[in-house]
Amino acid sequence: MSETPTTRRVYLETFGCQMNDYDTARMMRLLETAGYEKVELPKDADLILVNTCSVRDKAEQKALSRLGRLKSLRRTRPGILLGVTGCFAQREGEKFLRRMPYIDLILGTGAIERLPEHIRALECGRGPIVDIDLEPTPSPVTDFGRHLPGKGSSVAAFLTIMRGCDNYCAYCVVPYVRGPERSRPPDDILREARGLITQGAHELTLLGQNVNSYGRGLGDEIDFPRLLTMVHDLDGLTRLRFTTSHPKDLSDRLIDAFAKLPKLAPHLHLPVQAGSNQVLARMNRGYTVEQYLARVDALRAARPGIAVTTDILVGFPGETDDDFRQTCDLVESVRYSNAFSFRYSVRPGTAAAKWPDDVPDEQKIERLINLQARQQRITRELHREMVGGRVEVLVEREQTEPGLPRWSGKSGCYREVHFAGDDIGLGDMVTVEVERAFANHLEGRAAPTAPPVQRQ
Ligand code: SAH
Ligand code: SF4
Ligand code: F3S
Repeated sequence: MSETPTTRRVYLETFGCQMNDYDTARMMRLLETAGYEKVELPKDADLILVNTCSVRDKAEQKALSRLGRLKSLRRTRPGILLGVTGCFAQREGEKFLRRMPYIDLILGTGAIERLPEHIRALECGRGPIVDIDLEPTPSPVTDFGRHLPGKGSSVAAFLTIMRGCDNYCAYCVVPYVRGPERSRPPDDILREARGLITQGAHELTLLGQNVNSYGRGLGDEIDFPRLLTMVHDLDGLTRLRFTTSHPKDLSDRLIDAFAKLPKLAPHLHLPVQAGSNQVLARMNRGYTVEQYLARVDALRAARPGIAVTTDILVGFPGETDDDFRQTCDLVESVRYSNAFSFRYSVRPGTAAAKWPDDVPDEQKIERLINLQARQQRITRELHREMVGGRVEVLVEREQTEPGLPRWSGKSGCYREVHFAGDDIGLGDMVTVEVERAFANHLEGRAAPTAPPVQRQ
């Protein structure tokens, strides 16, 4: 290994949501243009970037402990550069340097395009640099048509269609760390979508904190259902998904898209957060349980069998036993195909941070365990009901371990499926006969291409 390689090496690590995955891919794209190549181990890198999340205290603690461990690399590789990016970097800014003076770069969520210039400055010894300006520099690179390095496969790619959030749910840090809602122009999005498809993506997931409000500020001609139809109609695309949908903005036209657009996968992530109207009102969610349930009914009428997943927060300030019971009732009545539940964590600067965090930790944990056990039972039941049926799987990975089904991917309803079959390649859409159900995945085999001859 030479001390002054012509190509410099970067190691990137991502915490948080799919938006951060996407931003990591974007940073990699920019760094490639600046002469960097990606490496899989921090010890091989000249530059390390940790893309952080701030959504819960635990996410921040994880990033801090990771950065603490990376510090020791300084001793073995003195010239190495260490950067913190993403939502936690945005929230903390300079304060990071007080905690961790060995960090060279603090890059906020609106500053990604300026990464190459900051790296050049750091390479010339000008550091540390803090850039948490939320106003994005107009980017010459709108076409990030390259898949996420190191995450999943290029068969299924993410595409961010908007940034920020204006909803200010009382518990949530996202509007503060991602800034106000801004939608990307449809031409940019379509160009990037075509690029991803050309490079091998068969499935696209359109990303935004609240995709339903896409298009605000872009004129009357465009809104989310229209954008969805435009992306749907691109040649070469097999399957389309989007996330996240805010229940208060889930329009009839969007629900109708599930009936009209065949490539749109039969799955919707519709975070409910709580099953009590009192709690929902204090969370500033803008809908009632009854309105939410009516939306779910309309969806199921538009696309029978559609899988609905959700996010739930337990232990929000003032949540009583009765409030929690109502959340359990809601979970039982909707029968989500999956639910991600979280313990409320105070986020400095949010509306709820002013209220006492009055649900004791033990009770939060108890509620979380209760909810997760319920959901696991429901998921298992739903999985068992699928045995003997068929699902459409987009093949994303080839398994190399002997004794396991060779192929895997996601069904339209967003279940992980492992299956056996011949003459199959990555990116194929395969009809799979489900033979066995597990807690977190299904197993089966590829259905014969021609239907079996019916015997009397
Ligand atoms: N935009 C998405 C959610 C983004 S954050 C939406 O509107 O639903 C992802 C999830 O993290 C949220 O749905 C919520 O359940 C959880 N979350 C957000 N803030 C939290 C907090 N302070 N404590 C615990 N969980 C939180
Ligand atoms: Fe956070 Fe609410 Fe915005 Fe989602 S919609 S990112 S929960 S403020
Ligand atoms: Fe976390 Fe930022 Fe996503 S706070 S959940 S990485 S938008």
